[in-house]
Amino acid sequence: MPGIKTFDVAVLVGSLRKASITRKAALALMAAAPASLTCRMVGVDLPLYNEDLEAAPPPAWTQFRQEMASADAVLFATPEYNRSMPGNLKNAIDVGSRPYGHSVWDGKPAAIVSVSPGKIGGMGANFALRQALVFINTPVMQQPEAYIGGAADLFGDDGTVKNADTAKFLDATMTAFARWVAALAPAKD
Ligand code: FNR
Repeated sequence: MPGIKTFDVAVLVGSLRKASITRKAALALMAAAPASLTCRMVGVDLPLYNEDLEAAPPPAWTQFRQEMASADAVLFATPEYNRSMPGNLKNAIDVGSRPYGHSVWDGKPAAIVSVSPGKIGGMGANFALRQALVFINTPVMQQPEAYIGGAADLFGDDGTVKNADTAKFLDATMTAFARWVAALAPAKD
């Protein structure tokens, strides 16, 4: 949009399955983004991190690192697996953090939205992710915290939101995230 500074947001969905509720929630979040955020999903189905492979990195690692390097900010939408984040999402964080000194995460503002059909809304995953983001120096929006519980019936396949309170909450989350990104996104060369 002319006159408005826009930011490129990489959206990472921590579920690989086709019917993922978390992906539907991520689509709803992307639709709720203010005009200052241009959101795109980046895939996190990557070979497991193994430092031995750095001599000839798997193409999927290289592509992921390139797609993340150009992003101004990161939106994580994660399910909860056994009170933590799914392994594929942690693996993507590890892949993006190496080789040492070339992390794609450093200083990029982020937000976390955890999603679950259960009542606690993936709070364990949300906080496990926050713990990793401290170490990779990715400042996470503090408020509003976003734990979306009872999510199985909240979203249509295309990310439509079936409940007005949820729609309002997603709007508030993305509006706050846009402010967070504008305040903290590192300047590009
Ligand atoms: C789960 N699920 C789950 N839910 C939750 O609220 N807390 C948890 O700790 C777990 N643990 C867990 C472990 C594993 C291995 C699986 C496969 C699932 C249920 C989970 O929330 C549910 O399957 C969601 O639908 C997964 O998200 P997507 O794939 O729909 O986005």
